[in-house]
Amino acid sequence: MTIIVTGGAGFIGSNFVFHMLDTYPDYRIVCLDKLTYAGNLSTLEPVMDNPNFRFVKLDICDREGVYRLFEEEKPDMVVNFAAESHVDRSIEDPEVFLRTNILGTQVLMDACRKYGIRRYHQVSTDEVYGDLPLDRPDLFFTEETPIHTSSPYSASKASADLLVLAYYRTYGLSVTISRCSNNYGPYHFPEKLIPLMIANALNDKPLPVYGQGLNVRDWLYVEDHCKAIDLILHKGREGQVYNVGGHNEMRNIDIVKIICKALGKPESLITYVTDRKGHDMRYAIDPTKIHRELGWEPETKFADGIQKTIAWYLENRRWWETILSGEYQNYYEKMYGSRETLG
Ligand code: NAD
Ligand code: TYD
Repeated sequence: MTIIVTGGAGFIGSNFVFHMLDTYPDYRIVCLDKLTYAGNLSTLEPVMDNPNFRFVKLDICDREGVYRLFEEEKPDMVVNFAAESHVDRSIEDPEVFLRTNILGTQVLMDACRKYGIRRYHQVSTDEVYGDLPLDRPDLFFTEETPIHTSSPYSASKASADLLVLAYYRTYGLSVTISRCSNNYGPYHFPEKLIPLMIANALNDKPLPVYGQGLNVRDWLYVEDHCKAIDLILHKGREGQVYNVGGHNEMRNIDIVKIICKALGKPESLITYVTDRKGHDMRYAIDPTKIHRELGWEPETKFADGIQKTIAWYLENRRWWETILSGEYQNYYEKMYGSRETLG
């Protein structure tokens, strides 16, 4: 079995590469990644010498390069993690989101059609469903919830999902889609809420909470997500969408306070700043379908996962400090330098 994993030098993709190499010693895993600002080759160092692993630096939009790789590797499956993934960046500059997230998906699926494939899996997000109101805790996203996007990021992911389902219906391509909630865990790029707050707290820097910090996300430990995708690849029904997540809803402000407490830092570091444009209030997954069909459920409770994550960032300072010392400085200044402090 040969699986092409795109975006495998990023957060979830790298965790998935590790999971698959550990779980299936006879599988060949080929990681295709452009190494954008979010891709880190150092993350993949532990598996670089594994004879079942190959890394290829490539843009998923590069049709010739992708076709060449398919000719060489003759993959049985493709799992597409490659994407521009940060909502705030999509608000600043949507174009690359449309190119990578939509057109890149098309190139990969065209390659699957041309060379044949057992399964194309699209890693999507619960953000395609838009958001839920805070005063309706009884509401959850199911696979039947209408697509209703808020940000250029979520619009690009939803467009890709529609294209994937169109390739299934029109060309009979064997596809599956997973739509998961916010992941957290090792190798999470420090522009996202949890690693950003851990890194800032450790450096005694302000902790920039958007708006009032009341927004709710349904947090999924990254290992649980990898296991879900593994199950969908092997047992999921083609043409189906599976929601992944559930039962770990947390308000942003409460997460930031947990991080302060765990690191022994004062809550006075918390700084309320200008809210994100179009900020989604609440995401919450109903995982009934994947539980009933594939027996999956999240194993890691948030209370445990956040402590494991904080411990990982303490033990792996070099990984994130190297990132923070580079080009990321300019990004931080651009995104947070002009945000008004609200309290
Ligand atoms: P990430 O930003 O950490 O990593 C993305 C990876 O894709 C990087 O290694 C980057 O170099 C690579 N990449 C970007 N553009 C590319 C291109 N044109 N060609 C090849 N490689 C390219 O993202 P992540 O958080 O690991 O997310 C992975 C996938 O999961 C994305 O599709 C994202 O939409 C989805 N997702 C993420 C979350 C989350 O909480 N992080 C939640 C739901 C869904
Ligand atoms: P993020 O990690 O960017 O994920 P997403 O936008 O995909 O949910 O943000 C998670 C939540 O944290 C979201 O409600 C925005 C908020 N947030 C802050 O309050 N401050 C920050 O500096 C960041 C990056 C996010």
